Amino acid sequence: MSVIRIVGRPESFDVNLTTSLLNALLRNRFPIQTLCGGRASCGRDLIRVHAGGEFLSPRRELEIKRLRSLAEEGEPSGADIRLACQTYTRGDVLIEILHLRLPDAS
Ligand code: FES
Repeated sequence: MSVIRIVGRPESFDVNLTTSLLNALLRNRFPIQTLCGGRASCGRDLIRVHAGGEFLSPRRELEIKRLRSLAEEGEPSGADIRLACQTYTRGDVLIEILHLRLPDAS
């Protein structure tokens, strides 16, 4: 079991090898955005990896393509940028959520 910590937030979350970072955060009701449900198409779950990048699963073709198109649309790019839905970890990580979900207006 590994731990996800979030830049600027007090919470931390456990994640196992077979759960994406996105799903680990959603299960804990963390306000990360997703429009596609984790299919690497919406790009709303962009994260910047601050520490633990060496523990992350390698990018697959689907993620590489989506990150490339997001960069063309003006989103951040670089070796530290990932889609949380396509990222798994085998060690503790510190990440920044680039698009937090806004609180419900209810
Ligand atoms: S959740 Fe839509 S791209 Fe990851």
